[in-house]
Amino acid sequence: MSVDTVPAALAGPLTLVHAADHTPGWWRSAVIYQVYPRSFRDLNGDGVGDLAGITAELPQLAELDVDAVWLSPFYRSPQRDAGYDVSDYCDVDPLFGTLDDFDAMMAEAKRLGLRLIVDLVPNHCSDQHAAFRAALAAPADGPERDMFIFRDGLGESGELPPNNWQSHFGGPAWTRITEPDGTAGQWYLHLFDSSQPDFNWDNDAVHAEFERVLRFWLDRGVSGFRVDVAHALVKAPGLPAWGGRADGNSSDGFPGHEAPMFGQPALHDIYRAWRRILAEYGPDRILCAEANVDPLPRLADWVRPDEMHQAFNFPYLHAGLDPHRMRRVVTESLNALDAVGAPTTWVLSNHDVVRHATRFGYDGPAPRDGDGIGPADPQPNAELGRARAAAATMFMLGLPGGAYLYQGEELGLPDGIDIPDHQRQDPTFGRTGGERLGRDGCRVPLPWRAGEPNNGFGSGADPWLPQPESFGALARDTQAASPSSHLNLYRSMLALRRQLRLGEGSLAWLEDWSTDTSLGYLNGTVAVLMNVGHEPLDLPAGTVLLRSSAAAAMNAPEHQLGSGETVWLEIYIEDTES
Ligand code: NOJ
Repeated sequence: MSVDTVPAALAGPLTLVHAADHTPGWWRSAVIYQVYPRSFRDLNGDGVGDLAGITAELPQLAELDVDAVWLSPFYRSPQRDAGYDVSDYCDVDPLFGTLDDFDAMMAEAKRLGLRLIVDLVPNHCSDQHAAFRAALAAPADGPERDMFIFRDGLGESGELPPNNWQSHFGGPAWTRITEPDGTAGQWYLHLFDSSQPDFNWDNDAVHAEFERVLRFWLDRGVSGFRVDVAHALVKAPGLPAWGGRADGNSSDGFPGHEAPMFGQPALHDIYRAWRRILAEYGPDRILCAEANVDPLPRLADWVRPDEMHQAFNFPYLHAGLDPHRMRRVVTESLNALDAVGAPTTWVLSNHDVVRHATRFGYDGPAPRDGDGIGPADPQPNAELGRARAAAATMFMLGLPGGAYLYQGEELGLPDGIDIPDHQRQDPTFGRTGGERLGRDGCRVPLPWRAGEPNNGFGSGADPWLPQPESFGALARDTQAASPSSHLNLYRSMLALRRQLRLGEGSLAWLEDWSTDTSLGYLNGTVAVLMNVGHEPLDLPAGTVLLRSSAAAAMNAPEHQLGSGETVWLEIYIEDTES
């Protein structure tokens, strides 16, 4: 559709941002569902989810009609950062099962037509990884140390860290070791917890090791990798001081793109090499960057034709429900990624952020900058949050490109808020003395079946994090049976999105809907209209395909769009060109 083909029913200007794109590649328009194994389904009754539990419930994901599943880490790990501290990249942690369980899960996914993507954690490993144990046991100038970033300390006796870098989880990014002879020794770098030493990507042996890991999982049939902190592997030569934010986002005087631990040019050669390896396995294996890149247009560098296939759009996740900000992010994203021929990858929730059903339960930003919510904080309005979350997801799933969903969002789950301090496991909580609550709230085990022990998560031990009271009413089986449930809205959205090929579609802003309280765009012949204001808005003529209020059993008047509601409306377009 061109800009001058104005739908009769939508008299008003349009601004075309993105043309329909049918370039082959399943991931370009895919909906990928994130499974967080610890919290998905506990089949062996130890209180923690497992691979057999995932296998057992995969049919539910196939029925939801997603294209693929991304699994957060299930590798051998001391679990100091919920598995993002890997001690063996080519084995399954006994907590989750065995390699045979993995193969069984892979086979079931194949049978159901679901692709599986696994998490690759190449920036750091666990301090229990054999290579780090060997580095600790080796002399300071030995090759074993060179697998990691060891430096002598500053100060008279090396008692000060080598530079001022801070850990993402709080505190310094350096820890001093005791040398094998018992003396206080060198320091090693860890951008995250002290149990997660950073690899030295200036060392070819590190490259070789990860190429082996890639092949190990590709040979087992995975469709690709979500690459953890993909912007951090290479550090600037000399490790210069940095006074900006530890997460690399811009702050006054410290633009994110100058952070010496992020976005270094040599990273891109690593991903080009990985892409060549994936290509040996055919055209369908993909890499998705978890890269916190600031400013947004630089995200395009990660998805150039010979690099990664996808990069999460975190600016979209953080845009909230502010129509102006959403519009700016969507426009900038499509412009930047179209320029390199890459799809945009939308996302609203994952295991690192407060769930969007909780974030949107506040008028204004969630407390603590979204870094967990506790019982002493202002509390969200659960119903409002759920209704707005449905509206936000419906806005997102109408956009052209791919999208990721986080387990439980299809149930409209809120964060767990009443988690006792002693049960909090996120290292952020411990490293900041409880000042930052961390991410446990969004990681609470799923409710599958109402009335069963632990709402059907597992019938044995208590779940590793307590489920909120509200999970009973939100259990999957209850929702499956109710036509007006959040789950059934997701099913309808995903089915329609596929049928209408919205992921391959176009985007033109409907200028009349671009206001302080509303935002609307046209994707092909579907108008996606969102009302974030307090007053209902009149709908233009067209056929209502789906309303987000279907999930709240709200009764918006037929010709209006209610407060906090999104609609997909089929518009009849007069072709002025023929
Ligand atoms: C990003 C992951 O998503 C997060 O959960 C983890 O703590 C850090 N990377 C460190 O691996």
